[in-house]
Amino acid sequence: MRTVDIIQRKRDGEELSSEEIQFLINAYTQDQIPDYQMSAFLMATYFSGMTDNEVTVLCNTMLGSGAVIDLSSVSGVKVDKHSTGGVGDKTSLIAAPLAAAAGAMVPMISGRALGHTGGTLDKLESIPGFRTTLTVDEFREQLRMYNLAFMGATPEVAPADAKLYALRDATATVESIPLVASSIMSKKIAEGVDSLVLDVKVGAGAFMKRQVDARRLAQMMVSIGRRADKRVVALITDMNQPLGFAVGNALEVMEVSQTLQNAGPTDLTRLSLELAARMIFLGRITMTLDEARELAQKLLLDGSGYRKFKEVIKAQGGDPNVLDRFDLLPNATGVREIASPRAGYISAIDAELIGKAAALIGAGRDTKEDAIDPAVGVILEVKTGMKVDAGSVLCRIYHTSEDRLEDAAELIEDSFRLSKEPPEDRELILEVVS
Ligand code: URA
Repeated sequence: MRTVDIIQRKRDGEELSSEEIQFLINAYTQDQIPDYQMSAFLMATYFSGMTDNEVTVLCNTMLGSGAVIDLSSVSGVKVDKHSTGGVGDKTSLIAAPLAAAAGAMVPMISGRALGHTGGTLDKLESIPGFRTTLTVDEFREQLRMYNLAFMGATPEVAPADAKLYALRDATATVESIPLVASSIMSKKIAEGVDSLVLDVKVGAGAFMKRQVDARRLAQMMVSIGRRADKRVVALITDMNQPLGFAVGNALEVMEVSQTLQNAGPTDLTRLSLELAARMIFLGRITMTLDEARELAQKLLLDGSGYRKFKEVIKAQGGDPNVLDRFDLLPNATGVREIASPRAGYISAIDAELIGKAAALIGAGRDTKEDAIDPAVGVILEVKTGMKVDAGSVLCRIYHTSEDRLEDAAELIEDSFRLSKEPPEDRELILEVVS
């Protein structure tokens, strides 16, 4: 089999055989196919798509590229949550501790910043000392002790995704339904979960800009999960404006801390509580979803989720005091304000532009080898629907260098739209697919 023939067939919109997909993924994972050929294949897939059969084979091959973590020695239903990627989306760091505090078992394998979106691993690694490179034994042991463990894909677990994810980020091939579905589902099945809550983002700041595409992605992931005997539910949620106010790794950890102390933004709190409730329900901690919602709310209000997150930070080598003392987190050295050019209502805040601006100043990567600057990012002062005066501060850019700051500021200025009339309210949770 020749790699170039497979690329050509996908480029021309043909359906690949199982053998071809298996050959390609296995050889790439074992460094037998160079990045340039895999990049061409990813781009061909981006344009040509895949049939359901191809996606199933792709996902299973990615899963089979490594080990499936055996969590049978850990009692209880294992449930995780994963987002398809958003801007300011730090719900995993809120929902997971709440679900774990309720008694659910949460083994969480997360990803890094991708395109203009942030990644849970990068956010966690902004906490000094936090170790996301656990061995499988450490992961299992920590889950047993604290109900919650975070790690990244490793050479043993979902190695194909670890390699492909980084390559997609650097080759503009993230926004592809089959590639997103197989990336997420191979990681999640590999971590040994019984149940999964998916947050499929839709809108300007999401990889899926249209609700029909988000629905198709949700359905594809739910059906991959069902075929693997997992209980899966997907919420389709709005990502037209950033979630919460903070975008950027350490800045988002600060907002997580505030939210777990019930002092967070309304949209972020609401979505995190709903995701936590879904995890609690699928984790069979409560009999009904309404009971799970009540429990999630109670654990937020009594500080149990907050304490759980601190416990887990400590267990993974991080400094839990960062949640009380933000000066212990990496801090920016400069701040630039963006002011409103005129009075009016904020009718839109383009989350993709904000995400791109944050990535430009270091919150994301240009190439897969780039390091993240954990301190930098954007804090919004306004959300869609708010009234502002001319000169009101719309947001602050936190930076550590002047490099690319002008370009970032321009993108951010372009991201705010003003109108004379208040815009219509948008639903946050648009659909549930199960
Ligand atoms: N999250 C993932 O894990 N993979 C993707 O492809 C997109 C978001």
